[in-house]
Amino acid sequence: MIPLVDLRAQYLEIKSEIDAAVLRVLDSTQFVLGPEVEAFEREFAAYSGASEGMAVNTGTSALHLALMAAGVRAGDEVITVPFTFVATVAAIGYIGAKAVFVDIDPATFTMDVAQLEQAITSRTKAIVPVHLYGQPADMDPIVAIARRHGLVVIEDACQAHGAAYKGRPVGSLGDAACFSFYPGKNLGAYGEGGMVVSNSASFAREVRMLRDWGAEKKYHHVLKGYNYRMDGIQGAILRVKLRHLERWTEARRAHARDYARLLADSNVTIPQEAGYARHVFHVYAVRTTDRQSLQRTLQANGVGSGIHYPIPVHLQPAYSDLGYTAGAFPESERAADEVLSLPMYPELSHTKLEMVAAAIRQEAYVV
Ligand SMILES: Cc1ncc(COP(=O)(O)O)c(C=O)c1O
Repeated sequence: MIPLVDLRAQYLEIKSEIDAAVLRVLDSTQFVLGPEVEAFEREFAAYSGASEGMAVNTGTSALHLALMAAGVRAGDEVITVPFTFVATVAAIGYIGAKAVFVDIDPATFTMDVAQLEQAITSRTKAIVPVHLYGQPADMDPIVAIARRHGLVVIEDACQAHGAAYKGRPVGSLGDAACFSFYPGKNLGAYGEGGMVVSNSASFAREVRMLRDWGAEKKYHHVLKGYNYRMDGIQGAILRVKLRHLERWTEARRAHARDYARLLADSNVTIPQEAGYARHVFHVYAVRTTDRQSLQRTLQANGVGSGIHYPIPVHLQPAYSDLGYTAGAFPESERAADEVLSLPMYPELSHTKLEMVAAAIRQEAYVV
């Protein structure tokens, strides 16, 4: 079997470092926040080109608190894309704000900037571009439009640790950025985790309070806050893994180049790295108009695959109250019908990658 992701291979590679870090936290009994989390905040913020890092318990919480601290309130509108993981839209809903969608550019799977301005109304407060699959959205025009209209930009960088736009790291491109450290992410915890990064000290202070019951001083609650704190063990693990991230990212990028070469004459459309981007290939999604058959072939050859994501958020029953119907966002809907994610993880061997590609090429001859 060649799985879609292989968390065990990575753990085994760095086991001694991870085990020592976990034991250090057990010994210190700093189980919630604490020095390991603080050190990780500093290290990951620096890695993302930001001066402030606020560790939280999930990427979803990061989005929720970033929107709150940015001043988004109930009844406001927040513009994002429907072709994303549901959490982007859920976080907007947690505040009582309304998600307004803009379709994606099919070449990059990120926000189609040409459609952004017409979605802005007098109630729009923020824009949340999603760096889907590890490819940054086209940030310069997004930020320019936001500035013209007095809007906040919060990057959903949950899939894009280490990605860059015109040489600048994601996390430093808008007013704040949100990351997820869910285990399967490019930088994954051994449990849940997330972070907001920003260059604003006052914004950072508010997020830090909101994640810890709205208090800076224990039992003195200035804001109505949440219990969104990061575990000490996750902070220690993430510090270890951050030191390996660039090497892992380069391995992913090398795999993407190999796939591109091996699949050039196949029936699938391979993902493109935008000219402005350093794509970090969290997900390697090809497109095919006959996904079911391709998935069956891969399965028959022992190759795992996934669909990120089969239904765009505007067509999810849970979000029918947003008032959209089928046909509203044709590129998102077409992508949802056609994408198939292939095995992608740093430890994927070249032999295995060739087997995946061979299975796909073989599909070209099966009618
Ligand atoms: C684009 C995107 N946004 C938000 C999230 C939410 O992150 P988490 O699962 O850590 O809450 C994820 C990941 O799951 C994601 O992929």
